[in-house]
Amino acid sequence: AKIHRHTFTIKSKAYTRLCDTKKILTVNGEFPGPTLKAHRGDKLIVNVINKANYNMTLHWHGARQVRNPWSDGPEYVTQCPIRPGERYVYRIDLKVEEGTIWWHAHSQWARATVHGAFIVYPKRGSSYPFPKPHREIPLILGEWWKKKNIMDIAGNTNKTGGEPAISDAYTINGQPGYLYPCSKPDTFKMTVVRHRRYLLRIINAVMDEELFFAIANHTLTVVAKDGLYLKHFNTSYLMITPGQSMDVLLHANQRSGRYFMAARAYSSAFGAGFDKTTTTAILKYKGHSLTDKLNRKTPVLPYLPPYNHTEATTRFTNQFRSYRTSNSPVNVPVKIDTRLLYAISVNLLNCSDYKPCSGPFGKRFSSSVNNVSFVNPTVDILRAYYRRIGGVFQADFPRNPPTEFNYTGENLPFPTRFGTKVVVLDFNSSVELVLQGTNVLASDNHPIHLHGYSFFVVGSGFGNFDRRKDPLKYNLVDPPEETTVGVPSNGWTAVRFVANNPGVWLLHCHIERHATWGMNAVFIVKDGPTKSSRMLKPPPDLPSC
Ligand code: C2O
Ligand code: CU
Repeated sequence: AKIHRHTFTIKSKAYTRLCDTKKILTVNGEFPGPTLKAHRGDKLIVNVINKANYNMTLHWHGARQVRNPWSDGPEYVTQCPIRPGERYVYRIDLKVEEGTIWWHAHSQWARATVHGAFIVYPKRGSSYPFPKPHREIPLILGEWWKKKNIMDIAGNTNKTGGEPAISDAYTINGQPGYLYPCSKPDTFKMTVVRHRRYLLRIINAVMDEELFFAIANHTLTVVAKDGLYLKHFNTSYLMITPGQSMDVLLHANQRSGRYFMAARAYSSAFGAGFDKTTTTAILKYKGHSLTDKLNRKTPVLPYLPPYNHTEATTRFTNQFRSYRTSNSPVNVPVKIDTRLLYAISVNLLNCSDYKPCSGPFGKRFSSSVNNVSFVNPTVDILRAYYRRIGGVFQADFPRNPPTEFNYTGENLPFPTRFGTKVVVLDFNSSVELVLQGTNVLASDNHPIHLHGYSFFVVGSGFGNFDRRKDPLKYNLVDPPEETTVGVPSNGWTAVRFVANNPGVWLLHCHIERHATWGMNAVFIVKDGPTKSSRMLKPPPDLPSC
């Protein structure tokens, strides 16, 4: 096991995109930020220095942080933010992770530009469960706001329930590509050798949009998601939600030439605006000549499903199955100790009841889990729990909403409450969590991400979850293991996990506007009975509020 030391300095730097120069927040001046690389079994020590004018935290999305919630990062959940001019050392022990994960700011909307890939290779001496690729290429799908300062968006959206400003372009590795005004030179290019295989490590770092992604003429083989191996399958396009990462094999088996890869939104949202543009990058075969008339033309665009093609997203995600081998069995919990139903919802509340207020129709947007709209406390929940500081959170999160209720047709029958409520779980208890979309306003998927864990996705369907019939159809044999799952807005998804990682762990929608409006929930997992099943002590440099 090796220890990797890094220094991440958060600072602003000027970048020019779409003919316009503005300052953005970066790590070490890079956009996207630096790629972390390590092997399973290694440790990373990242010294984060905040030279920005904003509070900041970083999160290692997909890293389980076993027994160490102190390094997880969500502000006011596991730590107070690092204030301007201060620093904090994050420690990441890669005990179980393997594949592509990523890191991003977990403070306000800073993650729009403060993010990067995090590659975890197999343990030293072991290899991939697929033929070794000739080369590996991270592809980070991001976005760009032409004028707007990202850090102004969050506060307003959160305080007044208004709609956040939508981006002006999507990007691939920080570059919008060909189809945007004055962006021809700002196009990411990747060169391949004919007949070789490449591993694309694709991350959706976009704030609010799920994306379709494809490469013209090429079939893609999906081999992992969220840093967890999948049974391989071939596809002509991907649907990847904010927060997700996918490992994809590309076989350069087409005629030598240039091909576009492209990404654009999947959104069936009515009314609500979203960025409808398309980002492109170029896949170029080595040695092909530009003097050949055929190759001088603009490359062809790949086919991408239409914006609102829900069936295309379901068809794609229904193919996920765990990759199982004799040394990596799939241990789906069978006996369940704790059953939870979380109704996740986007609602409009009357401005007369909530001030300040700037949503449409004299109302404000609000998101909730079982009608609790999460409010950040002023001291982090982890410290409050560990040091027994009272008044920071309440342990009365409503665990038992009505099971027989038309969730996909109506507002929940009890009013939205604002609060910081948690669910406390016993160490090693097995949990089934049914996430029920309510479809009252949002019509996208909700990519729900759980910190500190991965879970098995045992079932999913449209409409209301039926607690008698639906469990009979669960896949308990080879369900995919994930850390960020798309829950249909008018349907449900059931996940299972064993609460064996003590600490305070955030569960939230990775669509940033939903999280900003309150679609967050928190689990506190108690310590186990032995020393090695208790959470670690807080580090001495933990920032204070
Ligand atoms: Cu990638 Cu809590 O987030
Ligand atoms: Cu959501």
